[in-house]
Amino acid sequence: MKLTILGGGGFRVPLVYGALLTDHAEGRVTQVVLHDLDAGRLSAVTRVLAEQAADVPDAPEVTATTDLDEALRGADFVFSAIRVGGLEGRANDERVALAEGVLGQETVGAGGIAYGLRTVPVAEDIARRVARLAPDAWVINFTNPAGLVTEAMSRHLGDRVIGICDSPVGLGRRIARVLGGNPKEAWIDYVGLNHLGWVRGLKIAGRDELPRLLADPDLLGSFEEGKLFGVDWLQSLGAIPNEYLHYYYFNREAVRSYQQVEKTRGAFLRDQQATFYEGMRDPGARALTAWESTRAEREATYMAENRETAGAGEREADDLSGGYEKVALALMRAIARDERTTLILNVRNAGTLSALDGEAVIEVPCLVDANGAHPVTVDPLPDHATGLVCAVKAVEREVLAAAESGSRASAVKAFALHPLVDSVNVARRLVEGYTGVHPGLAYLK
Ligand code: G6P
Ligand code: MN
Repeated sequence: MKLTILGGGGFRVPLVYGALLTDHAEGRVTQVVLHDLDAGRLSAVTRVLAEQAADVPDAPEVTATTDLDEALRGADFVFSAIRVGGLEGRANDERVALAEGVLGQETVGAGGIAYGLRTVPVAEDIARRVARLAPDAWVINFTNPAGLVTEAMSRHLGDRVIGICDSPVGLGRRIARVLGGNPKEAWIDYVGLNHLGWVRGLKIAGRDELPRLLADPDLLGSFEEGKLFGVDWLQSLGAIPNEYLHYYYFNREAVRSYQQVEKTRGAFLRDQQATFYEGMRDPGARALTAWESTRAEREATYMAENRETAGAGEREADDLSGGYEKVALALMRAIARDERTTLILNVRNAGTLSALDGEAVIEVPCLVDANGAHPVTVDPLPDHATGLVCAVKAVEREVLAAAESGSRASAVKAFALHPLVDSVNVARRLVEGYTGVHPGLAYLK
């Protein structure tokens, strides 16, 4: 089985390959093709993978190419993990928004819109090529903003593209743990959009244990989301929101604390990863050691950062990076081997949330097997959540329209309609600011 990884020179690729190395069963991936636009990054990551594979006799063979069509031909699975504009782009997404006094974050608010605007045209081009060159392939989209990018690709690939995120399962795991249950046995009642969803129930052995957590202030205040949102607010909501909802419920504090940090998250990651890729120009460098030490530093800083700022909650180390590749692999296995399982994924709504049309990509528990991912029926969201979901979906649709037409007015509309952008004038200045720094937005006229 052949797996193609787009964004194959990316820093997280060794995590995916590490997970592949633990799979020895029939029907596993035997061939990995890395694709990236940057040959230097490709060669750095290829060297890390070679060292990872050194003692594993059945390690998947790895090849690398900068030719996209060649990478896609004959693929059974495609992992799309691209970052248009790189981490420099992410840092600019953050900076321009914060200078306007609105949230600059990779996936939420103005930063997420800017990232979406430059990613959607590239993602759609990839989707068209997959439809032509590997029509039977399954595409697993890692690229943020994951819901929006998955919806853009689904316009060309239908249900053959599935978006993933580790945050819902991570949240479910933390809730199950605090309740003393086994996370693997918990059924998580979660729905919304990517980075905009709520856990409304958590069943262990058929019993909803979430009311027990919501009724116990000590228990509720003892875990990450309890500290992040506060016991009172969680009790008022009667649900546990995804940590990214902190940016909505505590927007003013989040913006203020982000404005005070010395380096934004994007700028920090940009500088740190640059050190790794530069170090790898030395042909004698020990690739795996260099990668591991950069990664350890990254996680330590992440934990420290999040404790100080109003960003995401304190998270356990295995929640930081032990998520994405595991979700992706579980999904790939279920499809390739027809092993029926349930995963929270980004798929087309198909009637699940009645306030949205059938094409809208949502994040919801899905039954997965060889036929793909099928959303399960869930209880409706309360009005306040439906309101947010519909408002943000309308923004995503405006981003898709702008990407299709190249209309600057549509781009302004996308920013202006976002609940976290508080004036049409701010939206206009954001479009000015972003088109000034992002070459990938030159198409907006
Ligand atoms: C969470 C989110 C992801 C995000 C990841 C890493 O897991 O769900 O969408 O990519 O964090 O964030 P970072 O700031 O380290 O790039
Ligand atoms: Mn995510």
